[in-house]
Amino acid sequence: MASTDELTAQHQAQHRIEELKTLLQKASYEYYVLDAPTMPDAVYDQLYRELQELEAAHPQWITPDSPTQRVGEKPATRFASVRHNIPLYSLENAFDLQDFANWQERWRRVVPQMETFDYVCELKIDGNALALTYENGILVRGATRGDGITGEEITQNVRTIRSIPLRLNLDPAPPLVEVRGEAFLGLDVFRQINREREQAGEALFANPRNATAGTLRQLDARVVAKRQLDFFAYTIHIVGAKAQDSEAAEDQDAQIEQLQLLATSPTPSISPTSVTSSTPPFPLPHTQWEALELLQSIGFKVNPNRQLCRSLTEVEDYYNRWSTERLELPYMTDGVVVKLNSFGLQNQLGFTQKFPRWAIALKYPAEEAPTIVERISVNVGRTGAVTPLAELRPVQLAGTTVSRATLHNADRVAELDIRIGDTVIVRKAGEIIPEVLRVLPELRPAGAQPFQMPTHCPECGTQLEREVGEAVTRCINASCPAILRRSLLHWASRDALDIRGLGERWIEQFVDQGLLHSVADIYDLTVEQLLTVERMGQKSAQNLVEAIAQSKTQPWPRVLYGLGIRHVGSVNAQTLADQFPTAEALAAATPAEIEAVYGIGAEIAQSVHDWFRVPANQTLIERLQAAGVQLAAATPHRPAAQPLAGKTFVITGTLPSLKRDEAKNLIQEAGGKVASSVSAKTDYVVVGAEAGSKLAKAEALGISQLSEAQLLELLHQASVSDTPDP
Ligand code: IVH
Repeated sequence: MASTDELTAQHQAQHRIEELKTLLQKASYEYYVLDAPTMPDAVYDQLYRELQELEAAHPQWITPDSPTQRVGEKPATRFASVRHNIPLYSLENAFDLQDFANWQERWRRVVPQMETFDYVCELKIDGNALALTYENGILVRGATRGDGITGEEITQNVRTIRSIPLRLNLDPAPPLVEVRGEAFLGLDVFRQINREREQAGEALFANPRNATAGTLRQLDARVVAKRQLDFFAYTIHIVGAKAQDSEAAEDQDAQIEQLQLLATSPTPSISPTSVTSSTPPFPLPHTQWEALELLQSIGFKVNPNRQLCRSLTEVEDYYNRWSTERLELPYMTDGVVVKLNSFGLQNQLGFTQKFPRWAIALKYPAEEAPTIVERISVNVGRTGAVTPLAELRPVQLAGTTVSRATLHNADRVAELDIRIGDTVIVRKAGEIIPEVLRVLPELRPAGAQPFQMPTHCPECGTQLEREVGEAVTRCINASCPAILRRSLLHWASRDALDIRGLGERWIEQFVDQGLLHSVADIYDLTVEQLLTVERMGQKSAQNLVEAIAQSKTQPWPRVLYGLGIRHVGSVNAQTLADQFPTAEALAAATPAEIEAVYGIGAEIAQSVHDWFRVPANQTLIERLQAAGVQLAAATPHRPAAQPLAGKTFVITGTLPSLKRDEAKNLIQEAGGKVASSVSAKTDYVVVGAEAGSKLAKAEALGISQLSEAQLLELLHQASVSDTPDP
């Protein structure tokens, strides 16, 4: 039997777990939903670790809404398909205000008695719809839209989205709540992903929607967590809550009844008879506007750019205003969704086979234009990937001149059946790479021949290879001059070794003249050698040799990135370098050890491991080492806020969760000093269990005492009040 002491300890641990969950949830909500963080990262990390440790010691108290449960460790092998409790409808499209006016005429004929009404205008976020199920307030399921009736169960991935609450801020929570909204990637993250993919020699995502879909379908939730998906909620269905007033109850019953009719196989848990259980602690929404407010109040991120409009003119103004303002937003939008505000009216109108009759998507014209394919070329990248490109008659698009568009890979070429002379539609939106959307075969010149991907490398003539299950065709000749040129260029690029003056033009000449056969040769270049190159002057040669010497001081993560290992872009390089402080350590690691690094998936791990097994790469590392390139991390240096500057602390006794060194680090990181003995100069004594003489001395001197929690609180507050005034 457990002793009373043990029980108290158990009770305390359980209590602390609850407390930590609440603290961390609040911090996360402030950071990800409100975009107004108050807790410093170091404190968050510390509390998070404390929670992890407590949960490891008491696994029976791990709940699915714990912040530690956001990122699952075990990759899924496939996604199960799930039937939606309530089908997800799509929206009818209107392409201009006339279409919209026609739609308004149509619904008004159905309810001619309706004199006044209002619309909610929302931005149409270009992402992927998600259906989230909360049972008793806890997120139990996340699913993709799929065909609207069945989707894929991607709960593990959905949990990684920080702006999706794992627990609703509703007490008591209704038995079943379904929230729908749009998962999306911010443009910054989207660009970063594509940069990484480019650097890693992978096919680029054409737009943020595809990147979102690709990310949601990643089997490894750790990879998803790194991608920073975001979510705006726009629909809520509450089941099992009794409306407080009869009107709302009617709306709700009608809605659920209707959903019952529409769901081909009704789910028992949402049958209208079960919808009488409890009175919720909040008024049920009667309108879309109220629904959005409710969503916001229970912890969701709701797009702030919504507006109530009372007429066609007001909708028109909103649509016109956002046609330009949307270009300034940090995420992609492709139109405006106009919904009738009243749920009563929505229920009267109902649904067609595919769409609600009470909402419509008013789209913005896509940035597309027709042009002519003048040539089709192929480009050999750093990893040997061979990318087909359409060379186009220049056309103005999204503010730039487009004269080339990627055709991605052989499959895409075949799918498009693109031929020289074809008229094609190209698309470019914002910073997105131009792509060929479709071919207009009716405008094809007679005799145009289908394009064949080359079978041999256009640079070195080696037979090209394509692995089973891979979209990319590659040249696998390690000394292919195209690959060498790209590798050198990558090594010298800004995010890698940043060698100013070593650009495409010189690299081409150096390779042609046989001065460079490998990245390591860069460090053997001399001024005399460079002077043998056509058009190279004394000054340029000297500058270049100096820039090369300077590059030896670039830190290890940049060097690792510069090596150009497949799948290792600058972010992964940083992550790996943090865990493996030397090239030697990374070279010695097993794939499992590499994969154990947070954010590194199996494919990356294997690729890194394989790279270090290639003898030519081992020679490269040896030569770089001999040349003095940084293949190890320097001692870490982190300039941070210094809220505790000038304060001296003494730690005594055993702290409940922080180790002595950890507490010391936190204080020092915040600029404070940690002394070993108490004196009149001591500002605070941090007191743990079984504190001895230091505590007595502090008491005698009247020095302020802090518990661990108070210390963390102080670090937290100090860094909040430290934020400079705007
Ligand atoms: S309402 C029955 N609101 O657009 C209501 N959808 O083209 C259906 N979307 O599948 C959805 N932003 O993925 C709604 N504010 C918004 C939206 C939105 C983006 C997406 C959603 C939907 C698609 C329809």
